[in-house]
Order: sequence, then C-alpha cells, then structure tokens
Amino acid sequence: MKTTFLFFIALNSLISTNLLAQNGEELYKANCIWCHSIGKGILVGPDLENVHNKYPEEKLIKWIRSSQSVIASGDTSAVALFLKFNKVIMPDQKLTDEEIISIIAYIKSNSASDVAASKIPEKNTSFTTKTVLPTFESGGSDTNKSQTVLNYLFAGLALLFLIIILVLAGTINTLSNKIGEGLKK
Ligand code: HEC
Repeated sequence: MKTTFLFFIALNSLISTNLLAQNGEELYKANCIWCHSIGKGILVGPDLENVHNKYPEEKLIKWIRSSQSVIASGDTSAVALFLKFNKVIMPDQKLTDEEIISIIAYIKSNSASDVAASKIPEKNTSFTTKTVLPTFESGGSDTNKSQTVLNYLFAGLALLFLIIILVLAGTINTLSNKIGEGLKK
C-alpha cells in the first residue's frame, strides 16, 4: 500500500499546481476586488494594472500579506503611497505565498501590456510558447475552457492509474498468498 500512498502525494501536487492559476482569479475576486480594479482606475486603493512590473515579486508578496508592516519598516515608497491614499489601511491578508503568487499571475494576465503581448502572433516558434503559456496562468474566459478540459484529463488519468495500481496490488497479494501456500506443502 506504500505505492498507493506515494501515488496520492504525486497526484495531489500535480493537481494543486494545475489549479493554482484558476485560484488566482477566485482569490482576487474574494479578497481584492472591493478596493482594487485592474485597468479600470482607482477605487479605494490604486489600480493594480501592471503592478507586477512596479515591484520585485518578493516585495509584492510582503506588501499584499501585510502592507502595514512594510509601511512600518519605513519603506519610503510604501509610506508615500499610504499618505497618498489618505492613510486608508489595506487589511492584512491571510494568504500563503502560493496563493499570493497566483493572485499576481491573475493581475499579470489581466494587465493591458501583458494581454496585448500574449495576443500578438509572432512568426517564429516563440509564438507557441507565448500563446500556450498564458492558459496556465490566466483566468481569462477563453482560456478557462482549455484549463477545464485539462483538469478533467488529469482527473481521468489519475483515476485510470489508481485502478491499475489497485488491480496490480490485488494480483500481487493473491500471488504471494499462492506462493505462501505452495511453500507450506
Ligand atoms: C479595504 C480595501 C483593500 C483591500 C481589500 C485590498 N487592498 Fe490593496 N490597497 C488598498 C489601499 C488603500 C492601498 C494604498 C496603500 C495604503 O493605503 O496602504 C493598497 C495598495 C495595494 C498595492 C500597492 C499598489 C501600488 O501601486 O503600489 C497592492 C499591490 C495591493 N494593494 C494589492 C492588493 C491585493 C492583491 C489585494 C487582495 C488580496 C488587496 N490589495 C486588497 C486597499 C485595499
């Protein structure tokens, strides 16, 4: 049964990475949309369009998790932003690094320059990488379908593997029982 256990661990990590980008959209809509737009102007907080180009990822993660601790650390641009927004406090977010990264991926895929870049076809082979990659990191409506199909495919494959493993385990059990009986005789 050890194999089955290992298999489940592998399966789990496979599915969770696959769902990461989709989660970004959901997490954004659940936690950020009240105060931020992407490309539609200032709401309570600043427009987040292209904010991934404004800061290194590490700083962005820190900020999103706890803007107040970045401000408290004396970071000048953070303090300036806080003052500019009349000291409205962005609440701390109870999110893991991975969840924040998936939100950033969602912001990225909905920022104008990146959306444009992924839609301009190029003649060389980078065309395929540019058009295929966003399907893994965006929650855009036309990419959602292929993502869903992929999810079903993964789930189907996983089920198939599970059945094969169970059948094999059963066969091994029967065989070792038979061998045991044979040895007793
Ligand atoms: C209650 C409103 C509110 C919510 C909810 C909120 N923010 Fe903010 N956010 C702000 C305000 C206000 C600022 C401006 C800085 C300040 O006042 O602290 C800001 C600033 C930011 C900045 C810096 C922008 C820049 O141009 O430098 C980022 C990035 C950011 N928020 C991301 C997020 C993300 C991602 C979420 C969801 C997980 C989120 N925020 C949820 C209010 C909010």
